[in-house]
Amino acid sequence: MSPFSKSLRLSQRVAAACLRQHSSLTTELIENMDKKATWDRFYTESNSKTTTFKNFEWFFGFDAVKDFIMPLLKTKMNPDALCQILDMGCGTSALGPSIYRHSPVPVRVTCADISPIAVRLMQEHIQSKAIQPENLSSQLEFVELDCTQLHRHFGSSSVDLIIDKGTTDALLRSKEGKGKAGVVLRQCLKVLQGSGSLLQFSDEDPDARLLWLETEAQEQGVKSADVGVQEVGELRGVCYYCYQISDPSVDQEALSGSR
Ligand SMILES: C[S@@+](CC[C@H](N)C(=O)[O-])C[C@H]1O[C@@H](n2cnc3c(N)ncnc32)[C@H](O)[C@@H]1O
Repeated sequence: MSPFSKSLRLSQRVAAACLRQHSSLTTELIENMDKKATWDRFYTESNSKTTTFKNFEWFFGFDAVKDFIMPLLKTKMNPDALCQILDMGCGTSALGPSIYRHSPVPVRVTCADISPIAVRLMQEHIQSKAIQPENLSSQLEFVELDCTQLHRHFGSSSVDLIIDKGTTDALLRSKEGKGKAGVVLRQCLKVLQGSGSLLQFSDEDPDARLLWLETEAQEQGVKSADVGVQEVGELRGVCYYCYQISDPSVDQEALSGSR
C-alpha cells in the first residue's frame, strides 16, 4: 500500500470520527494528534451534545483484542502483589475498565492520558457505574500523564503490561510527533518489568512499523527488545495488527502459554 493511500485512509477515518461530532476538528486532528489541546477539544466536543456518556473507541473495543491481552496477565510470585497494567493514552476507551472487570488475576490497571478532559470523563463515568471486578483485589485508576514522562509516575521495571491502542499511531502521524513516539517507546522499555510486554495495536503495515520499532529499540542506551507482530483482523477493509515488544532473554511463549 502506498504512503498516500495510507494517509488518505487515516484522514478518512479521522474525518468520519469528526463528522460524527464537529467537522472543524478534522484538520487539527489529522495534523496535531500529538498535542494535548487537540485531544482536549476532541473529548470536550464529543461529549458536549449528549447527557449520556459514551466510550469512544479508536479502531475497535475490548472484545477484538482481549485474546491478545488476557493471556499475558499473570499472578505474581508474591500473592499480595498486583499485576501492573498501563493503558497508555487511554482516552475514553472502555479497554482499561474491561480488563479490570474481567481479569481473574488481581490487577492494578492505570489508565493514563495527556488530556485531563478524557481523564475526568472516565473518572466520573466509572464512579457512576461502580463496576465489580472479577477479582476483588483488583484496582483501577485514571491519571493525567504525558507518556513521554512515564518515569514520573512509574518506577523502572515496575509495569507488567503496557497497552497502546492508537497512541503511538497518533504521534507517528502528526507533523511534530515522530520524536515523541520514540521517547514514549524508550520510556515504556524503561518502566517495563523484564518479563513484561508492550502491545501496540495499529493499522500500520508491518514493513514500516517493525523497522521503526527495531531501529528505535536498538538506539544507544535502550535495552535490547524482541519485536513480533500478529494480525488482529480486518475491519471495514483495513487490516489491524498487534505489535508485541518484550525482553528477548525471557521466554514469552512459556510465560503467556499458547493462544
Ligand atoms: C488515537 S487516540 C486513542 C485513544 C484510546 N487508546 C482508544 O483506543 O480509543 C490517542 C490518545 O492518546 C492520547 N495522547 C496523545 N499524546 C499523549 C501523550 N504524550 N501522553 C499520553 N497520552 C497521549 C490522546 O489524548 C488520545 O486520547
